Amino acid sequence: MACLPNLDFMRPLADGSMKLIVTSPPYNIGKSYERKKTTLDSYVKDQAQVISECVRLLHPNGSICWQVGNHVQNGEVFPLDIVLYHLFKDHGLKLRNRIIWHFEHGLHCSGRLSGRHETILWFTKGNDYTFNLDPIRVPSKYPNKKYYKGPKMGQLSGNPLGKNPGDVWILPNVKNNHVEKTIHPCQFPVELVERLVLSMTSPSDSVLDPYMGVGSTVVAAVMNGRNGYGCDTVKEYVDIAWQRVHQLRAGTLQTRPRNKPVYDPKLPRGGHTR
Ligand SMILES: C[S@@+](CC[C@H](N)C(=O)[O-])C[C@H]1O[C@@H](n2cnc3c(N)ncnc32)[C@H](O)[C@@H]1O
Repeated sequence: MACLPNLDFMRPLADGSMKLIVTSPPYNIGKSYERKKTTLDSYVKDQAQVISECVRLLHPNGSICWQVGNHVQNGEVFPLDIVLYHLFKDHGLKLRNRIIWHFEHGLHCSGRLSGRHETILWFTKGNDYTFNLDPIRVPSKYPNKKYYKGPKMGQLSGNPLGKNPGDVWILPNVKNNHVEKTIHPCQFPVELVERLVLSMTSPSDSVLDPYMGVGSTVVAAVMNGRNGYGCDTVKEYVDIAWQRVHQLRAGTLQTRPRNKPVYDPKLPRGGHTR
């Protein structure tokens, strides 16, 4: 059995104590922060152990969001959401959405199309689960649209709080000019985790990230009055995570605001906002 530091971190935590588990594990592609396994099978076995421990920690009304991209071997692509899906189903979890996260920046491929999306598998433990749509509604395209006939004629037809954000999320990934950029090569944008925290938990609930990196999940949790838990094998990342939480508490942490438009036509060349 593999020695996985996050299992050591999770084992003392109580059954059912986490309302939400959000994470992005390594993809076994040889990044500096991962110990690459020789086969995809042995990687999946490690993931199975971590997922099993997450299911133990998950609250009966809770959610797991596993954010992944592709494992690539000799140019062949293995989408990790497909590879890992059965590990969650084997525990009886139910898939609620497969969220597509689209971003514009990344490696330029020559033998295939450049990858510009990753996915989040959102599973719940049961059918009775926390989901609050209102805090994550986004501005409607036509907020003043009205019913044009029938008994509601003349009344606004949309929700005044905005619309459901849908399952395709267009959010900038954290590259060099992003305000949240640290030394981590693959950190979450805080706004991505915030959507999950705000819709799938209530204030004072606990949120865990077992592959925490520089603590973006913990920041999103604490920022919204939840408790954040996380661990990582790289001490430097854990130090930065603490630093970010301290900055958040001091009011000095810079994050990209939620719902800030990704494009601003007034910027040069219809530019991307930061
Ligand atoms: C894709 S990154 C996650 C980045 C994170 N979402 C953030 O916003 O910073 C995966 C992280 O998992 C960590 N890691 C790899 N194996 C681990 C293990 N067994 N236990 C804990 N952390 C691990 C790596 O050091 C890396 O920081």
